Amino acid sequence: QKFNVAVLGATGLVGRQIIETLAERKFPVDQLFPLASSRSAGEEIDFNGEKVTVLDVEEFDFSNAHIGLFSAGGSVSEKYAPIAAEAGCVVIDNTSHFRYDYDVPLIVPEVNAHNLADFRNRNIIANPNCSTIQMLVALKPIYDAYGIDRINVSTYQAVSGAGKEAVDELAKQTANLMNARPMENDVFPKQIAFNVIPQIDAFQENGYTKEEMKMVWETQKILGDSSVMVNPTAVRVPVFFGHAEAIHLETRMPYDLEQVKQLLNDAPGVELIEDENDYPTPVSDASGNDTVYVGRLRADISHPHGLNLWVVSDNTRKGAATNSVQIAEELVNNYL
Ligand code: A2P
Repeated sequence: QKFNVAVLGATGLVGRQIIETLAERKFPVDQLFPLASSRSAGEEIDFNGEKVTVLDVEEFDFSNAHIGLFSAGGSVSEKYAPIAAEAGCVVIDNTSHFRYDYDVPLIVPEVNAHNLADFRNRNIIANPNCSTIQMLVALKPIYDAYGIDRINVSTYQAVSGAGKEAVDELAKQTANLMNARPMENDVFPKQIAFNVIPQIDAFQENGYTKEEMKMVWETQKILGDSSVMVNPTAVRVPVFFGHAEAIHLETRMPYDLEQVKQLLNDAPGVELIEDENDYPTPVSDASGNDTVYVGRLRADISHPHGLNLWVVSDNTRKGAATNSVQIAEELVNNYL
């Protein structure tokens, strides 16, 4: 059986990656409908060696699609996801718009594929935030074995998480700096080239940013466990592709480090770098593939149940496109 698949935001960074990933993973696509705004309708996109024309979402009839993969921003999803869902198209949404609705499943296939059955409530499934996805793929086996009381995490997030314009801004600022030309910032609140910015998304009343609170809310929802405490600091760094995270966690029960290594070696989607003199980085390891890399695994010298790890993955792939396509695979294999 084959499926008609609509990709909304098809000309964007994640949308393009979704289309590439559908081809790469040989998803059973009958017809592909790349959708965007009227600005880029009529452009052509490459899919499996064929040219497919981008359509204006405003004129698209979603009853023609079985599955819709949405990544055109929250307000676009807010408008079009209910329309698509009503027309019988199952929406897999990459934005944060529906993530915290109790009746919308929030899925990382390696962690909580069993929650997918709830998609029938609204015909909408949410794809989590990129930082949450890679963190939970790495922590799930540890959580299952020992429980987790608390997670302290600092992120080092690539500019591609903020879209095409953000990638262009880092490139342009870098070039301007090299040529000693003046620099402007539009996408980021401060200069991003050769800098780090401890703000992603808007500040909340409690002093955390929205990006940080996403990691709190989403971790608890995906694990189905509101007793897991999460304390994040999310930082933008001048890297194009690949998020890194320094994670310090406290397990509920005492852990055995050798057993943790074994668990991570056996975990789906994870590659543990065991060499004590080596570690993964976004550029040398994660960028361009779907693996969640774990390195710097070590016991916390300041806490008896403390464990430290460094987790790296490509935010546009496992953090966005690949996770969405994996959800679609679960959906067609088990429910459609
Ligand atoms: P368009 O090319 O028509 O602007 P990125 O996250 O890389 O910035 O990409 C955003 C994606 O979302 C693009 O594909 C963009 O299409 C799409 N998009 C943005 N606003 C709208 C809108 N109002 N309606 C449909 N698609 C939109």
